[in-house]
Amino acid sequence: MLICNQIAMVRQQVQEWKKSGLSIGLVPTMGYLHEGHKSLIDAARKENDRVAVSIFVNPMQFGPNEDLASYPRDLEKDAKLCEDAGVDLIFHPQPEEMYKQGFCTYVDMNGLTTELCGKSRPIHFRGVQTVVLKLFHIVTPDRAYFGQKDAQQLAVVKRMVQDLNVGTEIIGCPIIREEDGLAKSSRNTYLNEKERQAALVLSRSLQVGKALVDAGETNAQAIRQAITGEIEKEPMAKIDYVDIVDFETITPIETVQGSVLVAIAVFIGKTRLIDNFIVEK
Ligand code: PAJ
Repeated sequence: MLICNQIAMVRQQVQEWKKSGLSIGLVPTMGYLHEGHKSLIDAARKENDRVAVSIFVNPMQFGPNEDLASYPRDLEKDAKLCEDAGVDLIFHPQPEEMYKQGFCTYVDMNGLTTELCGKSRPIHFRGVQTVVLKLFHIVTPDRAYFGQKDAQQLAVVKRMVQDLNVGTEIIGCPIIREEDGLAKSSRNTYLNEKERQAALVLSRSLQVGKALVDAGETNAQAIRQAITGEIEKEPMAKIDYVDIVDFETITPIETVQGSVLVAIAVFIGKTRLIDNFIVEK
């Protein structure tokens, strides 16, 4: 497995693979890898001749009061997970390698990024889109793998690729959870024992919503209220949003119909956690 800090090094390797006619799968990450990331790597491994993982805590997608400095990092452990999972190349650039002096070009979007996480993280998706497009240009993957855990991100990347004619296929992968239901996340490490317990309210409240949908409820407001009510039972939880939107356009809906995303963001103490489920009706 090759670990590259330089864009030129990645390009050289990728060119060799392409000359040999090998297909490439890319898994973009910010590191501190867990089984959620590994599930994307496994999917990429199955469908491509070569697998590249990028590990880059992208400063551009963090707001001024967010956790850029404290975001957990452990390259050695990540490299071991990648090696064991059969990854061929890790791209681990420093911020200066990705954002050279004078950098001033961004990828922006009018729709999709205003709701859900876009409300409390106004510059977040611009940073995600910009870095993801850069990674696509550097690695030129045939396929790239994204988790449904960040469902809005998945929808945004799909839209960007369609709008800008990027020749990479975007594959969405299911949410991987802890045994007790908490969605795996690098940010779970911020939780103390009490908060970790309280964090179960996210998946529990979504189960309440899902049960309603399964019972035939199509009124988005009723589902929203049931989820909100369940979260409010937990004193350590503070709701950022509970929203029901069209999964493709990320616009609010009143009736559950078609491909629908039920998404929540909840603060447990200082830690902001997200979770969701998707309904196909
Ligand atoms: P990061 O949070 O490291 O996540 C990398 C990928 O892993 C994302 O596609 C995310 O949805 C997926 N993932 C995380 N937890 C998951 C889980 N429990 N189950 C399934 N997939 C999971 O998302 C980012 O990094 C960044 O925004 C990035 C796309 C790399 C751009 O900087």
